[in-house]
Amino acid sequence: MKIIGTGSALPTLSVTNNQLATFLDTSDEWITERTGIKARRLLSTESLYDIAETAAKKAIEASGLSPEQIDFLICSNVANRHVTPGISCIMQNRIGIKCAGLDINVACAGFVNAMMLADSMIKAGNARYIMILCAEEPSKYCNWHERDCSILFADGAGAVIVGPGDSFKDVQLTMISNRDVLYYERPLESTPFEKEHEHGQPLVMKGRELFRQAVSESSKDIMKLLSRQGLTPSDIDYYLIHQANKRIVDGIRSLLKEPEEKFPTNIEYYGNTSSASIPILLDEMLAQGRIHDGDKIVMSAFGAGFVSAACLLEW
Ligand code: ACO
Repeated sequence: MKIIGTGSALPTLSVTNNQLATFLDTSDEWITERTGIKARRLLSTESLYDIAETAAKKAIEASGLSPEQIDFLICSNVANRHVTPGISCIMQNRIGIKCAGLDINVACAGFVNAMMLADSMIKAGNARYIMILCAEEPSKYCNWHERDCSILFADGAGAVIVGPGDSFKDVQLTMISNRDVLYYERPLESTPFEKEHEHGQPLVMKGRELFRQAVSESSKDIMKLLSRQGLTPSDIDYYLIHQANKRIVDGIRSLLKEPEEKFPTNIEYYGNTSSASIPILLDEMLAQGRIHDGDKIVMSAFGAGFVSAACLLEW
């Protein structure tokens, strides 16, 4: 499998740390130092479906395919206003494709898991060209009266089109059931038969625990991948790490002992866009001409679950 087209889209509204500090007990200095984030894009006038449509259409255009040639759609999304139908069904019509599709929710590791699924489907002969569309609006699960999660999360969409090829080399998936480290509970409707109605809860995060687990599991995933492939960290040209927090990226980098220029970031201006962060970063790097034929790229993501996932591509 190889990536033959990418696209991304972000909300138009950019909100700086100083703007947050007008209604939250926080500061630009604290957020920048602890997370690397200076601003984030948040949905305001447009919907998640609008930006997802833009990202998807750009990816199709970049691939040179016509929409009819896409024969499967995998959408990665943690939550959106529709519990049902799935976001893949909603997006099929908006993108103008006719194929079947499915939704996956592997938190922020959704993109790498979708790559694994797409690779398996292409190898099995079930599809030739697949769109992976990651569309996320985590700003809408945060409690905006609290400063713990709202300073981190942001909205965005990233898409890739994959097709036959030999670029996707290996993948490492990890799941360690530990709900308490990061979770969001939505209330369902109450029934006359429940003894007690369950209430929802905006995103709850144990920041320090998540930080430690992310650095440790992500670096373990990467080292497993590299050792299986007979590679060392210095053989890799770029590490595209889930843009959760600049300090997490730095933590992984220092364990791998590799230079900063191999770990591109855009969290400074976009915040944490969950599973969309890696495809958005990839799309930007391609637009900037930073990725060349033969480059070895590791992608690594982690998130609520606890889940983590890493894959290796040779461009
Ligand atoms: N602004 C100002 N002060 C704050 C803020 C804030 N936004 N948040 C916490 N503080 C204060 C705390 O109250 C505490 O004060 P105290 O020392 O007087 O008690 C102090 O700052 C330190 O708080 P900690 O929570 O211990 O700060 P920490 O250094 O751990 O940083 C952070 C918090 C940024 C959340 C960090 O734990 C982290 O980055 N964790 C990972 C978060 C993350 O990346 N989540 C998403 C990844 S997974 C995914 O993408 C789904």
